[in-house]
Amino acid sequence: MTGSGNATGFSRGPGSRIMKCAGAACRAGSGREEGMRVADVVPEGVDPSVPSVARIYDHGLGGTDNFPVDRAISARVGEAMPESSKVAVLNRALLRRAVRFLAGEVGIRQFLDLGSGLPARDNTHQVARREAPEARVVYVDDDPMVRAYAGALLAGDARTAIVTADVRDTGAVLGHPDVVRLIDFDEPVGVLMSGILHHFPVSDDPGGIVAAYLAPAAPGSHLLVSHFHRGAPEAEELERKFVAGIGSGWFRTTEEVAAYFGDLEPLDPGVVPASVWRPDPAYDRALFPDITTREPGETEVGAIESLIVGGVARKG
Ligand SMILES: C[S@@+](CC[C@H](N)C(=O)[O-])C[C@H]1O[C@@H](n2cnc3c(N)ncnc32)[C@H](O)[C@@H]1O
Repeated sequence: MTGSGNATGFSRGPGSRIMKCAGAACRAGSGREEGMRVADVVPEGVDPSVPSVARIYDHGLGGTDNFPVDRAISARVGEAMPESSKVAVLNRALLRRAVRFLAGEVGIRQFLDLGSGLPARDNTHQVARREAPEARVVYVDDDPMVRAYAGALLAGDARTAIVTADVRDTGAVLGHPDVVRLIDFDEPVGVLMSGILHHFPVSDDPGGIVAAYLAPAAPGSHLLVSHFHRGAPEAEELERKFVAGIGSGWFRTTEEVAAYFGDLEPLDPGVVPASVWRPDPAYDRALFPDITTREPGETEVGAIESLIVGGVARKG
């Protein structure tokens, strides 16, 4: 599906009332009027009584594109470790720094953003285009709310698309007309798997899914992976609460996450807590004023920072 205005799919939610407009789609001209809040407007295909990974993550980022059922899951997870929702911000900041690095220093001009999430304040195409205005981005997510809101944000932008698909269906994604149109696998591509592999059980073979996306990619392509990490004793209970609440959210070890990169060449500093991956406190704080940051060279992190790791590797 292209980013061509899914805004028409909105209907009023039951018992809705007009409140302050605040969501990303509202800013993007989704069809919601000023003064309406996301919880008042339910896009087609969205069941506000069933929690969604995308909306829970949006809540963790301080967004408003979520429903009470999503916030209830966040609260339940938070019982295992207060402030663990800060992991969302640490993860998003890593994604932003990595995309800036790939577009700016490495020179990547096309990105496949797998499990892209709801539009937030600084999305992959916006970050990349500050470095390279010609950058092309295909977002892939299976959430109907993402389809509606990303569609609204990207409407009229011929160099981006939102594909609604299951990332595990690698053939369908790689063969999708918008992927074929915008991603040239004969040129280096940035494959972004930020915060998605921890939603795949071992039985789905997450490493095999990663390998399928990298197989057709040209030498010089890069992979970003970020992942929940078994870095603190609370990780076990957090995992239990996620899996009970939404059916996924596995915390893995550094070695397990590093294995997803297969035979790609790891870039410094390897798979590390998100907050110590090529840190840039001023850049992070400009978007997330309350984020925990580390100075370059620092490696010690707190318990919450230890729960999310990531790294970037290059295909030789
Ligand atoms: C934690 S969010 C991460 C968003 C974004 N990548 C980031 O790091 O800021 C995970 C996203 O993956 C999506 N997702 C989970 N399983 C998926 C699947 N099998 N296929 C497509 N998208 C999926 C969810 O809908 C959600 O939007």
